[in-house]
Amino acid sequence: MILKRYPSSKNRSLRPWNAGDEYVLKTLPENLEGKKVLLVGDRFGYLSCHLHHLQPTLVADKRSQVIAISENLKRNELELDGREINPSIFEVGDTFDFAVIIIPKSIELFEFYLSQVSNLLNTDSKVVCPFMTRNFSPRITEVAAKYFEEVSQSLAWKKSRLLQLSNPKSLTTRPEDLIQSFKDDLFGDVKLKQYPGVFSTGSLDIGTRFLLENIELKPDELNILDVGSGNGVISVWLRSQKPEAELCLVDDSYLAVESSKLNLNDSRTTHIWADNLNGLTGIEFDLIVSNPPFHQEYETDVEVSIRLFKQVKKVLKQGGRFVIVANRHLNYGNHLKKLFPTVNVTHQNEKFEIIESSH
Ligand SMILES: C[S@@+](CC[C@H](N)C(=O)[O-])C[C@H]1O[C@@H](n2cnc3c(N)ncnc32)[C@H](O)[C@@H]1O
Repeated sequence: MILKRYPSSKNRSLRPWNAGDEYVLKTLPENLEGKKVLLVGDRFGYLSCHLHHLQPTLVADKRSQVIAISENLKRNELELDGREINPSIFEVGDTFDFAVIIIPKSIELFEFYLSQVSNLLNTDSKVVCPFMTRNFSPRITEVAAKYFEEVSQSLAWKKSRLLQLSNPKSLTTRPEDLIQSFKDDLFGDVKLKQYPGVFSTGSLDIGTRFLLENIELKPDELNILDVGSGNGVISVWLRSQKPEAELCLVDDSYLAVESSKLNLNDSRTTHIWADNLNGLTGIEFDLIVSNPPFHQEYETDVEVSIRLFKQVKKVLKQGGRFVIVANRHLNYGNHLKKLFPTVNVTHQNEKFEIIESSH
């Protein structure tokens, strides 16, 4: 198989699969031919490609994952044969004999997957969940035991393990039962809602708070883009300040986009599920705001943000502003200076800085 990461990375040590993925293949039950198989959270498509002969139902929350899986299938001349890559388990209405769930970094997201997958199994179905041993937390087995009678762990192999689950408990957890909500002084009585695993669980991120407490909006900033919008918190605040503005929110995570729709739903707001801004070419924004992503699961990766900054440049109006909040140690100012003629740190504290760029 030829497999590549999407988005590609300059760091050559980053591979498009890990030992956990290989462990799943190595220990695959016999006689899966003709059985219904579910695969949740395949990061770049290693398992989607290797299990292609079983025609698994695929679920991937991130638009970038969907692209990675699709490109790797194509690279290996494998077809989806009319199947879609489902953005969430909500869309899957089938029962499965065998499921693989890649354990995500967010335990809340893992619980969300378990709660939904356990509703889609037969009594004798098996589930395996690979993880790298360094990422183990006792919470993983605790949440698994909420949804399955039998929870065990395999021996370690190449620093990975498999969580093995069987005998699903007959709980029916509806997606809406798992929506979290929180209040914050900046939003008065408004409750912010989000699906599990969406940044930042159960509270306003301190970086985002620093941005919202310090950003001053200009009267003519009426067409605004929120990049990496998460649960939409920045846009909810913008809407409270500028009822007349057109707001566009973009996030790579489907659950994030579904969350922002719970918080902001009006005719002047657009929510886009995308990992890039290519679909916005031709539009010019007066203001672009972001608390940019720099983690992809367990990897710290500023390349994702830098790629987004390059795309921001194409959709920022001449004289418009690109305002970000970021950890000071990330040194985003240096990267932005390579792209924009004017870059200023307008506010900083011991941890964060707000950087304003324009052209
Ligand atoms: C630091 S969080 C900020 C979320 C929200 N704006 C806030 O302040 O709470 C960054 C967000 O960027 C999203 N993200 C990551 N990669 C992305 C990409 N390539 N394109 C768009 N969004 C992305 C993540 O899903 C996450 O919701």
